[in-house]
Amino acid sequence: MTNLHCNIAGIDSINPFWLASAPPTDKYINVKRAFDAGWGGVVWKTLGIDPPVINTSSRYGVHHDRSRGILGINNIELISDRPLAINLAEIEQIRREYPDRVVIGSMMAPIEKSAWQELAVKIANSGVHGLELNFGCPHGMCERGMGSAIGQVPEMVEQVTRWVRQAVDLPVFTKLTPNITNILWSAEAAQRGGCHGLALINTVNSITSVDLDLMAPTPTVDGKGTHGGYCGSAVKPIALNMVAEIARNAETKQMTISAIGGIETWRDAAEFIALGASGLQVCTAAMLYGFRIVEDMKAGLQNFMAEKGYAHLDDFRGKAVANTVDWNDLNLNFDSKAFIKQAQCIGCGRCHIACEDTSHQAIRFDTNSQGLRRFTVLDDHCVGCNLCAHVCPVPDCIEMRTVDNGQPRLTWPQHPKNPLRTDVPVSKNTEV
Ligand SMILES: Cc1cc2nc3c(=O)[nH]c(=O)nc-3n(C[C@H](O)[C@H](O)[C@H](O)COP(=O)(O)O)c2cc1C
Repeated sequence: MTNLHCNIAGIDSINPFWLASAPPTDKYINVKRAFDAGWGGVVWKTLGIDPPVINTSSRYGVHHDRSRGILGINNIELISDRPLAINLAEIEQIRREYPDRVVIGSMMAPIEKSAWQELAVKIANSGVHGLELNFGCPHGMCERGMGSAIGQVPEMVEQVTRWVRQAVDLPVFTKLTPNITNILWSAEAAQRGGCHGLALINTVNSITSVDLDLMAPTPTVDGKGTHGGYCGSAVKPIALNMVAEIARNAETKQMTISAIGGIETWRDAAEFIALGASGLQVCTAAMLYGFRIVEDMKAGLQNFMAEKGYAHLDDFRGKAVANTVDWNDLNLNFDSKAFIKQAQCIGCGRCHIACEDTSHQAIRFDTNSQGLRRFTVLDDHCVGCNLCAHVCPVPDCIEMRTVDNGQPRLTWPQHPKNPLRTDVPVSKNTEV
């Protein structure tokens, strides 16, 4: 039997799926619907000090693929635009009605000790399980010295985290912005400030498109646009990397991570857990597909765990961290070749043209007497780059097969061509 029950920074949750701070967690009715659909918790839409902010019309830009699928969305929304007292009363109500679900209060204030501490105490008194410090918002709030304006300065991340820790006796998550050069600087700063967990990532600074009639970035507000925060499936690779960086860094590897960024499916969730995340937060996928996506996420994750023999999330948490290494630690003698399964090939030629025009001219194109197109890999030219397998529209039609070349494992520090090589012996040790 698999069990999704988990503990995230000291908070028990019936499953690891929380809704991230955003419109889906903006008010009682949304959160009630989310809990009825099966979400384990929510991070309430970021609360600030009154008077509430003013939001614009419109607010979202979208990056479509060519079939109108949505790769990512960009928003220029600010924090909650509802009075604090109403939000806090709704939090109290939802806590009473759903005692087994987690509610985290997200917060943001000007960079003054009293502002952060007074707001933290007010939110704590509403009965939340923990607080999340929003140092991530890359638009609007940062221009007022909040959000990513704090998150981009490690000293401020540390200071504000410490202020909140001093004010309340609750688990505190520091939510990090990806709009920095090195995520470890802010992660380590948050740790020094005493946070119980890191939440990442917030949105990525972006312009999704330009309206060529209005000649302005989208979304446009009365003919003008601005940069906004990008999120959804497209940012998952950025988030995975940042989570992995924290999970494999000596100073931060013990930290609890609440992973956010492009989680749409059980597989996304499992990948973040494999890279060390304890909890998962979802925003865009819920906005695009509704709250019931959590049903597929939970069922898929449980099926995966049952198949692999994992009873609890902890059984595979962080299992991919040791295999996430610096480039220099990859085996330069490892070799693989593409193999085209002829029975599955539809003869479209995408593999051929990708390889012929942009790679290694390793896929031969023949036409037989009936005019049928046949593509075959020239092993001598194939460097195992994978491009053909990625562009092939038929899943599993092109397989990358490992070649046993009898060569020992050889990393760059060990390589004879490395000018910095001292006397590192070539090793057959396969351990990383
Ligand atoms: C419309 C919108 C509003 C958001 N508002 C907030 C917010 O108030 N506070 C916050 O910490 N993050 C906010 N976020 C960021 C999300 O919580 C989350 O970090 C980000 O969207 C990445 O997750 P996703 O790819 O699942 O959407 C917002 C995101 C969107 C799309």
